[in-house]
Amino acid sequence: MAEALKIFNIVGARPNLVKIAPLMREMSRHASIQPILVHTGQHYDEKLSDVFFRQMGIPAPDFNLEVGSGSHAWQTAEILKRIEPLLIERKPDLVLVVGDVNSTIAASLASVKLGISVAHVEAGLRSFDRTMPEEINRILTDALADHLFVTEDDAIANLVREGRPCDLPFAVLTLHRPSNVDSVQTLERLLSAIDEIAEELPVIFPVHPRTQERLKEARVKHHPHLRLIPPVGYLDFLCLLHRSQFVLTDSGGIQEETTALGVPCLTLRENTERPITVTEGTNQLVGQDTKKIVNAAREIFGGKAKEGKVPRLWDGHAAERIVEILLREGPRNTKVNGTKAAALRTEWI
Ligand code: UD1
Repeated sequence: MAEALKIFNIVGARPNLVKIAPLMREMSRHASIQPILVHTGQHYDEKLSDVFFRQMGIPAPDFNLEVGSGSHAWQTAEILKRIEPLLIERKPDLVLVVGDVNSTIAASLASVKLGISVAHVEAGLRSFDRTMPEEINRILTDALADHLFVTEDDAIANLVREGRPCDLPFAVLTLHRPSNVDSVQTLERLLSAIDEIAEELPVIFPVHPRTQERLKEARVKHHPHLRLIPPVGYLDFLCLLHRSQFVLTDSGGIQEETTALGVPCLTLRENTERPITVTEGTNQLVGQDTKKIVNAAREIFGGKAKEGKVPRLWDGHAAERIVEILLREGPRNTKVNGTKAAALRTEWI
């Protein structure tokens, strides 16, 4: 029989105990898991710790680091110092941390530095208040963890925004073209199709200001899995595209970017000025027909996403070729003395 998966479950403060109790219970039902409970000792009082063990039937900790109270730096450092030798000696396959207390970040940091995989339960929660010590713990723990267990959609958007790889499949939507957003009826119709798609997987929708204005008038209630977020920076957006299962868009550039990234794209337009993204790339024109949009998305859920190849010369070196040609050829406009006009020239770049 294969050796059991040795999991260190870390608790330190009161709220951790509530979350670790059912996890310990579930893990102990599986012979293939060896759950080990490590209490850092951040909380040690009867009321802050012991009563939780009793009431929730949590087994006595296998190890107690007994760090006790101190300043944030002291407490975090003390946990780091005390847990490292234990990790080295016991060699867990995985360290599971919960929540956002000092024990959470300290155990995570010590583990990843030893090459031990970290699972974070309650990942991605953000108050956006960096004066809270817990907010710093949340951000840092999520940056270190390999398994990110989330409890709500906002958490996914937060993690994606912070550039954490997110295997959770989601789609990305952009809509800004007047033909799609200027008529409130058209916009509502399109979003009703998107709502149907959101039934199946979360759709992240960075909203263009023009669309935002129209949405105020539309006043439609969206599926909770359709996540409206403010516009994001270019690199963040590329990351979103890259990680998404597919993209719905009426943009021109995004048709190219998805083809370059090999991500399926459904274009909510009847035409495209970039046909190569359809003939060679991952793009499909689905127009404004809600049935067509939903059916195309279903094909992708069913594993039949359109495959594409990256067209010739889409290699990121166009700017170099343009500058080289300009340097070689110089200006090609008609001579001022009128003797000879330069031939019009088209170049592949
Ligand atoms: C910690 C968590 C907080 C969580 C709270 C739950 C961090 C940064 N904060 O805050 O997110 O909501 O636990 O209760 O990890 N003390 C005792 N008995 C104890 C432990 C502490 O009296 O068993 C006293 C000590 O004077 C200590 C103070 O409480 O200095 C603060 O404890 P500490 O664990 O540092 O932070 P909490 O405020 O409890």
